[in-house]
Amino acid sequence: MKRVFSGVQPTGNLHLGNYLGALKRFVAMQDDYECVYCIVDLHALTMPWDPDQLRDATREVAAGFMASGLDPERCIVFNQSQCPMHLRLQWILACLTPLGWLNRMTQFKEKAGKQKDNASLGLYGYPVLQAADIIGYHATHVPVGDDQRQHLELSRDIAGAFNHTFGLDFFPLPEAVILGEATRVMSLRDGRSKMSKSDESDYSRINLTDDRDAIALKIRKARTDSIMGVSYDPENRPEASNLVTIYASLAGVSRDAVLDEFQSARFSDFKARLADLAVEVLGPVGEEMKRLSADPGYVDSVLRDGAERARAIAEPIQKRVEELTGFLVP
Ligand code: TYM
Repeated sequence: MKRVFSGVQPTGNLHLGNYLGALKRFVAMQDDYECVYCIVDLHALTMPWDPDQLRDATREVAAGFMASGLDPERCIVFNQSQCPMHLRLQWILACLTPLGWLNRMTQFKEKAGKQKDNASLGLYGYPVLQAADIIGYHATHVPVGDDQRQHLELSRDIAGAFNHTFGLDFFPLPEAVILGEATRVMSLRDGRSKMSKSDESDYSRINLTDDRDAIALKIRKARTDSIMGVSYDPENRPEASNLVTIYASLAGVSRDAVLDEFQSARFSDFKARLADLAVEVLGPVGEEMKRLSADPGYVDSVLRDGAERARAIAEPIQKRVEELTGFLVP
């Protein structure tokens, strides 16, 4: 049986990178797989947080999921804290994970920065919780952006460590699904750094909640170079190449098709067309998010129902894990 699991952190604005690298892929899989999509509010505690903002951001990501095309009737949408398996399984897995594996994680190094001693235990153990998220549902496929590759490899190693410890093939080894043209969308201000919610400049990203004018303005203001024409050359033209990638992904075509279409165009004309395309695709997503945000009662009911369905999958798996682990149920 094939089951999909993926997660998004409720930490600030959803942006074009999340949309093209993850949400669009989530939607593409909902017809062919049993899909479980999670707003990972436990993971959000690994950086400083504000309780009210966390609640709002959780609803906003849920709204973003649905506005992007996820149908809560066909897939499960819930927030992580509402299914107790994640934390219970995380502990057991943490006790089977060597520190050496965690020491290799580049995302910890980036997020902890120079102040490693001040980083929390939660941030360090983040990838173990991520492994629990995935394997606790016996998920086989995990659609993610390229930046999650290393965490997915670790999830496979941790699943393997559990299986090896208890001498059976209990957890399937989950496969990362990193597909499409836009697995790594770059900043609109600097083509060598990833588009991210933590970038100080709002012009570096397109937020899914940006209105049509803001979307068009950000594309118009996106940094480019003085080289003539439209080409794909990430080494020498990182910003221009990123815009080609974004165009391809928004239009649902290959990069080569974009290059063919614009082979004799000026870059400014290409940018104008990209602005129109981005407005056409993302405008309705932002508007639907706004509509859903005005109805928190509905969003909460989706999450409540999703959590119930998530627990129904996770509980029997977790029960078996705890039997294998050796917990006495007196
Ligand atoms: P998060 O919340 O940072 O990002 C959510 C998803 O968006 C993708 N993404 C991007 N894709 C392309 N270009 C970008 N610039 C870009 N920025 C973000 C991410 O790859 C991700 O797929 N650790 C995860 C959350 C998580 C998770 C999980 C994911 C927790 N448990 C279990 C999968 C399975 C994270 O921080 O994603």
